Amino acid sequence: MTTMRNPETSTRNRSIKVIFDTDPGVDDAAALLFLNAYPYVTLLGITTVFGNADIDTVTRNALYLKKRFAIPAPVARGAGISLAGETSLPPAHIHGQNGIGDIALDESHLPEPDPRPAHRFIIDTVRENPGEVTLLAVGRLTNLALALREAPDIASLVKEVVIMGGAFSLSGHNGNVTPVAEANMIGDPLAADEVFGATWSVTAIGLDVTRQVVMGPAELNRLAAHGGEAGRFIVEISKGYRAFHAQFGIDGYYVHDATAAVYVIDPSLFKVRSGPIRVATEGVAVGQTIQRDWGTLYPPGEWDMAPDQKVAVSVDANRVLGMLLGTHIPCLLAS
Ligand code: BDR
Ligand code: CA
Repeated sequence: MTTMRNPETSTRNRSIKVIFDTDPGVDDAAALLFLNAYPYVTLLGITTVFGNADIDTVTRNALYLKKRFAIPAPVARGAGISLAGETSLPPAHIHGQNGIGDIALDESHLPEPDPRPAHRFIIDTVRENPGEVTLLAVGRLTNLALALREAPDIASLVKEVVIMGGAFSLSGHNGNVTPVAEANMIGDPLAADEVFGATWSVTAIGLDVTRQVVMGPAELNRLAAHGGEAGRFIVEISKGYRAFHAQFGIDGYYVHDATAAVYVIDPSLFKVRSGPIRVATEGVAVGQTIQRDWGTLYPPGEWDMAPDQKVAVSVDANRVLGMLLGTHIPCLLAS
């Protein structure tokens, strides 16, 4: 069933407590700067996971962003390998060798990370804020799965989980690593399957919708001219990211992670579909995300115990872009 949430009951205009689980990452960095600037978001923590670069690099990047943009939230270092003990070659051709577009980084006097590993930070913070924390995960889901394994009780304490990940063959969009698998899912398919299988509310913002949100030249020019230091930074780090997209005829870049961040703030800009979700953990379709169709009767099987979760099936791309730009250029939000 497809539903659209009533804007009046959306989370807009309320304080939203977020733990941002991320692998910065060009689009991760842009999403973080959006969250940091958005007035109704309280960032409780930034937890890192390997992906767009190795765990040392993405953690360094998170600490760099924290320092440069005076982000008060602590940074906790997370998993450097998948639940199965595997790692993958970082996509330097997309995010650069240093994960954020190969810009020069001043690494002096970076803040120290939180002493706890990311999954322990998540457990502690969720328990300290029962019913209030949104876990926004825009990388592999390893930290979330580790937190669930160590403390299954957090499933009932989290407000909701929103992920950027998956590809559900809607709107003609399939995988970006294989014909069926999206990067964050294939990077740790077991973790993803465990996260979708837990009894908390998960919403997947997959390629089906994030590929409809394109930050084009006009938006980037506006950000550079009027978006202050954060706007200029986003434009600077995304040069190589744009060049990668240009190979496929896209003038600009897909807004993957920040689109999931917008969902957290205003879910009324999306339509979602409910049903259990599983992730293929091996074989030729490894990393594929599949949502059960409730309209068809099946014999008893592995899907029967899986809880309903949500998948975004459509998005108001113009309004998502408007919110992202308007957060950095406030006069746009007023218009
Ligand atoms: C996802 O993979 C990463 O490269 C991006 O940061 C995004 O989270 C898109 O498939
Ligand atoms: Ca990411």
